[in-house]
Amino acid sequence: MLTLETTIAGRHFDRCLMNAAGVRCQSSRDLDALVQSRAGAYVTKSATPAPRPGNPSPRMATMPHGSFNSMGLPNNGLAYYLDYVIADEQKRPGKTNFLSLAGTSLDDNLAMLHEINDSAYQGFVELNLSCPNVPGHPQTGYDFEATRQTLEAVFDFYQKPLGVKLPPYFDMAHFDAIAGILNQFPLSFVTTINSVGNGLLVNFETETVAIKPKGGFGGIGGASIKPTALANVRALAQRLNPDIAVIGVGGIMSGRDAFEHILCGASMLQIGTQFGYEGPAIFARIAKELGDIMLLKGYTSIEDFRGKLKTLD
Ligand code: DOR
Repeated sequence: MLTLETTIAGRHFDRCLMNAAGVRCQSSRDLDALVQSRAGAYVTKSATPAPRPGNPSPRMATMPHGSFNSMGLPNNGLAYYLDYVIADEQKRPGKTNFLSLAGTSLDDNLAMLHEINDSAYQGFVELNLSCPNVPGHPQTGYDFEATRQTLEAVFDFYQKPLGVKLPPYFDMAHFDAIAGILNQFPLSFVTTINSVGNGLLVNFETETVAIKPKGGFGGIGGASIKPTALANVRALAQRLNPDIAVIGVGGIMSGRDAFEHILCGASMLQIGTQFGYEGPAIFARIAKELGDIMLLKGYTSIEDFRGKLKTLD
């Protein structure tokens, strides 16, 4: 019997597909649609302590092979998402989902985590250390010392399962450095990658930038970033303690892309750009395509091939 089920930190998911934080998950209506879909879980829009309007528009653009954004963390504030996930857990006991946090300071992140720690919430927190789009706030994940200090402060008191969302790394020494730090903490998972930050999209006709915030600089998502995403999934899966699951994000448009992420070591797949374009029906489509590939190859579970990418030596 073919199954797409997966396990992260002892939590079971019927299907290894979900949305990526930020895409169609800001309102309770968005989240309800994810609950109704064939996704195995959802993650909420990255929350800050108070609601935020985000960056000025236009703040998003499409590209032939992806997406481009500088949203700047528009969100309805922690209380909104915490209420939603707690109510959902009461309706559907035993279902684990992900609450994303992106405080713009360590203090904000710690204050939100204290609130969650003291709440009835049982699910995962995905701590976003990689938003490229808040002016004046560098991505914590690129500062190894700040990442270590953040995790030390978090695990000093936080008792519930938590993982981190990372920016893409581009150097073997950086893969070694970040994994060396992450391995010192009881993380449940890492989610890799966030958008490739601070790209620049030029409008040839108007000779202008494509979006307003930050002089036009923004995060790249979608098909163009798949090789970078696969490299990060693979490099981290090879370096992290086996009890830290890797969640793969970046360039998943088809069952084939999903298969490749799993082959590189992903235990769960998040879909951002293409989910934005296609809507919640994408989860049934990709589940079918992935299942068909597995059938053809003679695999019955993702554990049959997860992390088993072969090299040519
Ligand atoms: O590409 C991104 N856009 N990544 C994030 O982490 C946040 C988001 C935004 O709101 O700008």
